[in-house]
Amino acid sequence: MKTEFVPTGIVGLDDLLGGGYPRGRVILITGGPGSGKTLMAMQFLIDGVERFDEHGVFVSLEESRFHLINEMQNFGWDLEKYERKNQLAIVDASPLRQISKEKDPTGPENNVHLRGAEFSIQALCTVIRSYVRITRAMRIVIDPITSLSLQFSGMQRRTALVDLLDALMSMGTTCVVTSEIASQTGISPTHRSISPEEYLCHGVIVLHNNHIAGKGVISSLEIEKMREARHDRQLHPYAITEKGIAIYAERFLG
Ligand SMILES: Nc1ncnc2c1ncn2[C@@H]1O[C@H](COP(=O)(O)OP(=O)(O)OP(=O)(O)O)[C@@H](O)[C@H]1O
Ligand SMILES: [Mg+2]
Repeated sequence: MKTEFVPTGIVGLDDLLGGGYPRGRVILITGGPGSGKTLMAMQFLIDGVERFDEHGVFVSLEESRFHLINEMQNFGWDLEKYERKNQLAIVDASPLRQISKEKDPTGPENNVHLRGAEFSIQALCTVIRSYVRITRAMRIVIDPITSLSLQFSGMQRRTALVDLLDALMSMGTTCVVTSEIASQTGISPTHRSISPEEYLCHGVIVLHNNHIAGKGVISSLEIEKMREARHDRQLHPYAITEKGIAIYAERFLG
């Protein structure tokens, strides 16, 4: 079957991807602190709502709902308005918090406590599935999956990730998950360790912070992989403005 592509909502990115993210797949956006991971993921959901009437579920594993809503106001996005219209659900699933009874749409019998080591992939998927049903979502974001993934090591980590990806795929939605890059040294983006998430997800986009002598930090984006797509493989500079992230077509030459 011919792959269908879903526009990313990011200026300049669809051209590099050959149309957008492959529909129904799980795409990883990985990058350093403040590189724009949350923003890029949210832009995908907002664009879906505004241009295609594709509803979305945003699962925040670290930032509170309150902070997220406030931050996104800086870009002119009124998340609560979309929530009121049932076009978007912002799910605060921070491991440090408990999903309260009134926020848990599955009711008290399924009320889950997401705390530290008890954070379970199964519980998370149950919550996501119910919000997808309620909003009739076509798009899901999980931001970030780092702490979830790091509770496991070795083979267990891969198995947990495969379980998560299988569950997301079974929902028939296009998913963006984000992860943190632990450290980047020097100017070469290749000097970093590759996480299992990068092997397991269908597509990977890396947001690099390049430290250039005399120029400071220049941000660039790389499509590391995108199964089923003939995509660009160069580094491209990007900028965060009051309208969100935009990618430039020119190559980043360092
Ligand atoms: N109005 C704005 N105009 C330009 N840049 C902005 C604006 N608001 C925020 N930013 C930039 O956006 C970045 C935050 O983006 P975002 O929260 O998506 O990053 P992140 O990769 O998710 O960060 P973290 O690792 O902390 O989760 C900040 O580093 C800031 O520089
Ligand atoms: Mg973030």
